[in-house]
Amino acid sequence: MDQGRGRAVVRKLAAGNWKMNGLRAEGVALAEELRRHCAATLPGCDLLICPPATALTAVGAALTGSPIGLGGQDCHEAPKGAHTGDISAAMLKDAGCTTVILGHSERRADHHESNALVQAKAVAARAAGLAVILCVGESLAERDAGHALAVVAQQLAGSLPPGLDGATLAIAYEPVWAIGSGRTPKAAEIAAVHGRIRRELSGRVPDPAAVRILYGGSVKPDNAAALMAVPDVDGALVGGASLVAADFWAIAQACA
Ligand code: PGA
Repeated sequence: MDQGRGRAVVRKLAAGNWKMNGLRAEGVALAEELRRHCAATLPGCDLLICPPATALTAVGAALTGSPIGLGGQDCHEAPKGAHTGDISAAMLKDAGCTTVILGHSERRADHHESNALVQAKAVAARAAGLAVILCVGESLAERDAGHALAVVAQQLAGSLPPGLDGATLAIAYEPVWAIGSGRTPKAAEIAAVHGRIRRELSGRVPDPAAVRILYGGSVKPDNAAALMAVPDVDGALVGGASLVAADFWAIAQACA
């Protein structure tokens, strides 16, 4: 059981979000280095890397036969059509992805993605057979105003479609102010948000205890073990540190 809270043990998930970093050769070199670290499946942790779309096929080929999964960073909500520059969920699946990150705060900010749009993307991802990592998180102003829990609950309510479960959904709690900043919330603050997310999942998924709730935002090798010890933290969504194979591997080992 997990933390004495009555939850069955779930495998953790260490997911690397490469964002807009890496040409194909760099991505392949990073994947190959990670693969040398990760020869076999870790006992308690799944690994996933999410390269830029242009590197998916090459990185996927470099991962063939390894326990490391491949994911996309976003998809369009339509199955296909006249959407110049966009990528459908089926295209990600076709490129070898099992999973897609949706609703990342950088997309919510840079591309004005609403909860409703994120929800439509999640529906599209499931229709194409992709699992979803759904991102939520408050801004610094929202935290300072004491609204973090309410903001996260509202994002979850607005962007989570019905029909997902522990096998097809992970939630990533990423406070906007912690991303790329070197700052992380206190353990008690993370526990409070993850606990609230878990409660919000009740009634929205059939198996709330089985949904992995990841923490993201300045996860590094030196803080990963402490973050993973926080109740209801089931893994990490890692940005900057996932671009260094040894660092991402150290984080994955802290998860396992
Ligand atoms: P970071 O990014 O680890 O560089 O803070 C996390 C994320 O945006 O997913």
